[in-house]
Amino acid sequence: MTDKNKEQLPGILRFFIKLFQIILYIPIQIIFIPIAIVGIIIAVYKETGRSKKLGVSFSAIKALQYRWMMHYFNTRPDPLSVEFVKNFPCESHFGMWSVMGALIISQRLSGFPEKLGKLVEPGEETGDTTAGIRVLTFDRIMEKYIDEMEQIVLPGAGFDLIALKYTQDKEVKVFELDQANTLNIKVETLKKAYIAHDWITYIPVDYETESWSDKLLEAGFDKTKKTLFLWQSVSLYLEAEIVREALKDMADLCVDGSVIAQDFYSKAFAEGKYSKESKNFLSIIEKMGEPAKFGLDMSDDPKAAVESFLEECGLQMTEYIQFGEKLDIEPFYCVVEAEKL
Ligand SMILES: C[S@@+](CC[C@H](N)C(=O)[O-])C[C@H]1O[C@@H](n2cnc3c(N)ncnc32)[C@H](O)[C@@H]1O
Repeated sequence: MTDKNKEQLPGILRFFIKLFQIILYIPIQIIFIPIAIVGIIIAVYKETGRSKKLGVSFSAIKALQYRWMMHYFNTRPDPLSVEFVKNFPCESHFGMWSVMGALIISQRLSGFPEKLGKLVEPGEETGDTTAGIRVLTFDRIMEKYIDEMEQIVLPGAGFDLIALKYTQDKEVKVFELDQANTLNIKVETLKKAYIAHDWITYIPVDYETESWSDKLLEAGFDKTKKTLFLWQSVSLYLEAEIVREALKDMADLCVDGSVIAQDFYSKAFAEGKYSKESKNFLSIIEKMGEPAKFGLDMSDDPKAAVESFLEECGLQMTEYIQFGEKLDIEPFYCVVEAEKL
């Protein structure tokens, strides 16, 4: 039953459907409680303790978790991320199932909980629903350009497997960059999971101390080829000057027809002033060593603010998607496409 159909039902019927859903959910959750106690301990140890020890990006683990959830809540099939998590030293597939399992089963049986893992209509995103739609928005960008590009570059790929999903058997060169520890664990995990990845070039780099564009060129990037840059949820964690330099570098590396796709958070979001939930999320990430550092002032005219920032970096905005645009909420996040000016 669709959400619209449900809204048309009489109130009393909706009440009994909800009651039935909750009655069904409770015993499932009770069965899961002892498993969840063990699962949480394992998951928290791997996500926080082990990841800190191995120097792996916690924000990248969080993004991977969301893709795992999207798979099981049927909003984005992603068997690669599931296989990856099963072999990943900094996350527990069992732990994730133990915590989410009752909700996943209940949602599949009766549709409860309604909102968790669900996608909203474009323009109706809020801070809570951004994580899923963001992933689908970048999927769409990849689908739009995959057949016309000769190179794809992901500077700050984390544990995103979008390149593996879309570029196998394609005539395209792929480069993924990220900090050494994160990237090394990614490659080790792919090997352990028997996920083929040999057509991708992995380049360890720290933007704060090294030139990522020099490393990219050394690794075989060709400046004469049409390239898609996918820069998903990275700028939030970098100093403003580094974001500017990185975008200028991308502009310098682009030939006609190349596209730079990226997202921006608002300054208010980066400063934890957007909502209580985002403040909590940022404070956890900060405790794990990744403070939010960069956001654009979107309080007045967000589109103009993004456009002018891109122009400062030698880029022209060609697409602009502002999340939550149809709602009466403060602008907090957007995904944009740009090309060299
Ligand atoms: C939120 S994650 C996003 C990962 C991926 N793009 C995704 O959507 O799943 C941010 C990524 O930026 C990378 N990153 C942050 N600071 C960096 C730096 N100074 N040099 C290189 N990578 C960095 C982190 O290692 C992490 O993988």
